[in-house]
Amino acid sequence: MHKLNRDFFLYLSKNKLLNKNAKRWGLKLGASKVVAGLTIEDSLQPLQELNESGRMITLDHLGEFVYEEEEAIEAFQSSMEALDFIKENDIDCYLSVKLTKLGLDVDEGLCMKHIRALLERAKQYDTMINIDMEDYAHYDQTLDLLDELRKDYDNIGIVLQAYIHSGVEDTNRLKGMKIRFVKGAYKEDASVAIQDKKKIDEHMLEMIKTHMLNESYTAIATHDHELIEKVKTFALENGIPREMFEFQMLYGFRNDVQLQLVKDGYRFRTYVPYGKDWYGYFMRRLAERPQNVAFAFRGMLSK
Ligand code: FDA
Repeated sequence: MHKLNRDFFLYLSKNKLLNKNAKRWGLKLGASKVVAGLTIEDSLQPLQELNESGRMITLDHLGEFVYEEEEAIEAFQSSMEALDFIKENDIDCYLSVKLTKLGLDVDEGLCMKHIRALLERAKQYDTMINIDMEDYAHYDQTLDLLDELRKDYDNIGIVLQAYIHSGVEDTNRLKGMKIRFVKGAYKEDASVAIQDKKKIDEHMLEMIKTHMLNESYTAIATHDHELIEKVKTFALENGIPREMFEFQMLYGFRNDVQLQLVKDGYRFRTYVPYGKDWYGYFMRRLAERPQNVAFAFRGMLSK
């Protein structure tokens, strides 16, 4: 049943017509619980409250799979404005970006121009840009572009997905980089991605341990309390300093656990999405957890 549910919502997440129409709907179906606002200005209060509670932030201007140059330029400008906004309002935050949103499928050169400009601005503001990992169709290209960018910038981070078979190898290859480890949110073929949930969990732990032992900064992005406990124990047993890792969760999920981690003295960052293009992001969250469906239906009735 869970697999059916997952496939259904992942299918919906990629529906172009629904993605397009949802931009006109405003935040519906309960999306306002997991998306901070339609504009960056709307998001200011949640951002300030997160910082006040001891949580750092990574901000994501929602949007992906952009195929028009004009849209990619617009997305780039919004991300530049987001950097200015963070700086002006003194928010402890960096940006997470998706390369397809900055024009990867339109023209790789345009996308690189955009990401370089963002990295420059972020450097001026003493912050960083983290590149989200998207579907496998963009995996190798994203890592190749990262290699190019790393030559010129050190304020850059990347995401590795634990369902990808080559995860440990890629972790070792990126020794020294800031990496966010996630399980992986897209529907991928068994030829490239592990399908068994338990095996993905084990693989994620192995990748995290590898990066920590490589003395590289590690972000553990999960809502999975069992995995979090295993990482805490490993860090303690292996003398990994707390400044060398952080936990991350999505905005609106497991707020109690987020606050407890802060209280226990761990570095913690909330991933905060905002913007009109909320639909694909929200459908992937529904795919991950059947309980989120009930949450969405309640939202549908109340909004
Ligand atoms: P998973 O969904 O496997 O849950 C494991 C267990 O944790 C559950 O069985 C349950 O016991 C508990 N649990 C989980 N959620 C709960 C809840 N809300 N309430 C109570 N219990 C709960 N993906 C990607 O492909 N590319 C990317 O760039 C990113 N970026 C990213 C950033 C951040 C900060 C996060 C947290 C996640 C991502 N992801 C991502 C998404 C990621 O790949 C993954 O799909 C989701 O995090 C879901 O997997 P989890 O590890 O959270 O646990």
